[in-house]
Amino acid sequence: MEFQDELKARMQHVNAVLADYLPKESGFQKTLLSAMNYSVEAGGKRIRPIMMECTYQMFGGTDSKAGPFMAAMEMIHNSSLIHDDLPALDNDDMRRGRKTTHKEYGEAMAILAGDALLNYAYETACRAFETASGKQLERTAKALQILSAKSGIHGMLGGQSCDVECEGRALTERMVEFINGHKTAALIEASLMIGAVLAGAGDEEVGILESVGHKIGLAFQIRDDILDLTGSELELGKPIGSDVRNKKTTFVSLFGVPAGKARVERLSSQALEEFDRLGVRHEFLRMLLEELATRRR
Ligand code: IPE
Ligand code: IPE
Ligand code: MG
Ligand code: MG
Ligand code: MG
Repeated sequence: MEFQDELKARMQHVNAVLADYLPKESGFQKTLLSAMNYSVEAGGKRIRPIMMECTYQMFGGTDSKAGPFMAAMEMIHNSSLIHDDLPALDNDDMRRGRKTTHKEYGEAMAILAGDALLNYAYETACRAFETASGKQLERTAKALQILSAKSGIHGMLGGQSCDVECEGRALTERMVEFINGHKTAALIEASLMIGAVLAGAGDEEVGILESVGHKIGLAFQIRDDILDLTGSELELGKPIGSDVRNKKTTFVSLFGVPAGKARVERLSSQALEEFDRLGVRHEFLRMLLEELATRRR
């Protein structure tokens, strides 16, 4: 299958998995549930659950046992986006070609929907225990540990807090790398690691995937910052110029677009070199990781 066809098929599969796990919109809290679904169902590239399923398959997984974690990862990602767009953070009105959640449902409901998705992600991931037995119980517990650590204060949320706190300040390259390594790379690391852990990969392999995810994540954020300056709003589905408006210091504001592109290129090829050191291969995942360096959305 051609890369683009497989990407589309995998994206559709993730959407089907999500549809299985998203809450039914009923009960007195229906508005909250519909705000959660509004955000997740708006689409997006779904690269995190796709990566997770790829590493699951890469290490021998053939069933749907990664499903709860794939859905949980996309829920956490969406929770981070809903909050990231709030007036108190980046104050953006469009996401994935639609009004942001706070524009559609109001700020209070958007704050709650972000919280609710974060919490529901763990409820969902815990459902993996329902079908686990034997060695799978331990793997599921380990996956849960990775998911929670990479999303939290030493992961995505830690990075988001520094990102917001540092608005309007001149930052060192080291600080920018800390921010990108946490707000963005942490969830990509977790996605690659969790699939492998669930399939029974060893510590060394999971460690390599963590390092691959870190580099891919750093590159992903620099590419996002480049697109924020040079991309098309129509293609991206979110406003451009958000970083300048919010006075963010990014790798690109420090060193310019050409240096940004060169850094993305270098990080991406280093990541692929490490990926190739794994004893097993996954051609589609390799192509996906490579393609992210030049993505246009
Ligand atoms: C956007 O992530 C936030 C960043 C970490 C840069 P994505 O670019 O993966 O967003 P979607 O899920 O495709 O909308
Ligand atoms: C990504 O950074 C942060 C998250 C972890 C949500 P950005 O603030 O640059 O992401 P976009 O550009 O709004 O998607
Ligand atoms: Mg932000
Ligand atoms: Mg933002
Ligand atoms: Mg951005």
